[in-house]
Amino acid sequence: PPPLASGAVVEHTFHVQNLTVRRLCNREVVTAVNGSVPGPTIRMQEGDTLVVHAVNLSPYNISIHWHGIFQLLSGWADGPNMITQCPIRPGEKYTYKFTVTGQEGTLWWHAHVSTIRATVYGALIIRPKSGNPYPFPKPDREIPILLGEWWNANVVDVEAQAHATGGGPNNSNAYTINGFPGDLYPCSENKTFKVSVEKGKTYLLRIINAALNNQLFFKVANHHFTVVAVDATYTTPYKTDVVLVAPGQTTDVLLQADQPIGSYYMAARPYASAPGISFDNTTTRGLIVYEGSSAATAPMPALPAFNDTPTAFTFNSNITSLPTARHWVPVPTKVDKHMYVTVGLGLDRCSTTGNATCQGPNGQRFAASMNNVSFQFPTTISLLQAFHSGVNGVYTTDFPSQPVVKFDYTNATAVNNDTQSWFVHKGTKVEKLKFNETVELVLQNTAILVVENHPIHLHGFNFHVLAQGFGNYDPVNAPKKFNLDNPQIRNTIGVPVGGWAVLRFQANNPGMWFMHCHLDAHLPWGLAMAFEVEDGPTPDTKLPPPPADFPKC
Ligand code: C2O
Repeated sequence: PPPLASGAVVEHTFHVQNLTVRRLCNREVVTAVNGSVPGPTIRMQEGDTLVVHAVNLSPYNISIHWHGIFQLLSGWADGPNMITQCPIRPGEKYTYKFTVTGQEGTLWWHAHVSTIRATVYGALIIRPKSGNPYPFPKPDREIPILLGEWWNANVVDVEAQAHATGGGPNNSNAYTINGFPGDLYPCSENKTFKVSVEKGKTYLLRIINAALNNQLFFKVANHHFTVVAVDATYTTPYKTDVVLVAPGQTTDVLLQADQPIGSYYMAARPYASAPGISFDNTTTRGLIVYEGSSAATAPMPALPAFNDTPTAFTFNSNITSLPTARHWVPVPTKVDKHMYVTVGLGLDRCSTTGNATCQGPNGQRFAASMNNVSFQFPTTISLLQAFHSGVNGVYTTDFPSQPVVKFDYTNATAVNNDTQSWFVHKGTKVEKLKFNETVELVLQNTAILVVENHPIHLHGFNFHVLAQGFGNYDPVNAPKKFNLDNPQIRNTIGVPVGGWAVLRFQANNPGMWFMHCHLDAHLPWGLAMAFEVEDGPTPDTKLPPPPADFPKC
């Protein structure tokens, strides 16, 4: 059913503007919303309509995405640059307007053009409608924790330089908690996030990974968590002392202030699954201070090692959804379309023999692909506009729903002896779906160049995660282990390193829905595709025309 705007209207104005920020002994000009990094926290209730006037006063093209929002019949507000809309040009504005129904919890918003999201992001918190309790003990207070990543450089230049050389982007210089690097970094003693708690009380931490290129482990010294939601879907309570959050994902945990009065560090550092890849292996930390504490020192949590895949997999695979929760959706049982999609890196030819000026592997340029198709962004009109107004020649509907060449995806030696499989094919290819069609999607990591845990995000839908594992997907035996009762429900899945994950979703929302790796470096390399979902049969299942102020190219 279409969303019923029964709730309130929550209205914000986002002034997107450059400002100078001091971090890590540096002054950096960054793009930010309403003068702060992170930007404003949006708080609304399920059923409310959000209206955000985005005013672009920055020198860059801007678009804003509401990560994890279904956008039922409001796909024009989804935000990914050149997928649903052309960017908001400098000096222009666009009003994003949509109603949020059938979902509650922690989501976030971020710029969806270039790498501007490094500093243009914020929390989007959807509380239950008045009178609807949480399916867990009511916390005394809620604390958003936004994990981010910081460069001592202009992030747009970092991306442009990677593009120009064909190599990887420079690593970040710090991770951040609510914008603060924390006191393990230079010049950051007073740039440490601090929160005070009261002994005996319960806190809901709404943890969001807004970092660009790194999954992060997060811990609080001497305390345990109970995970109660991921990606704004309630989970069966899961006790753990460490959480792993991939870029794009959110994790809500209850934390009991049950330790002796004192101070305790919270800290985050990367889970980096690809061997031999350089990354920023520093640690950000913040402080939890009990009321009445005079402690001069605080214990530091022992974080897992950066390559601790067993801990990562244990966390990722133990989450289950909560069938008794409001808005819970059972697994669709009838599958209309099976897709098997490889995700991984690859190369774009610099020349047949390579070229010293191309700084990717073997003198070529880095690329990435899904089923060997490296996604090219359209340049003249957004995919959704082209779809809606029937403009031909912008994209093709021949995305391969199965790998073009099957091989042993996990055998790095075999793969790397076959240099032909390294090279990607470029295209702007989408997969056409009928309204309400159910898709079962196997995502398979490849070992081309590196094996790596890719967080794959689907716009417009949540999906059920039926199973995940290592090695090559086994179509005979894996389905025997599908969780069809209470699988976790997400919008972003960390496909296990050298492994696979099986997702199922129902295409109940007409529009153009991007699916891509949320490691930002992989997006311009082409680790993406889109689903074109046709209108439904009745007037209330058709995408309305774009709003009058919709940005044109
Ligand atoms: Cu959070 Cu397409 O992104």
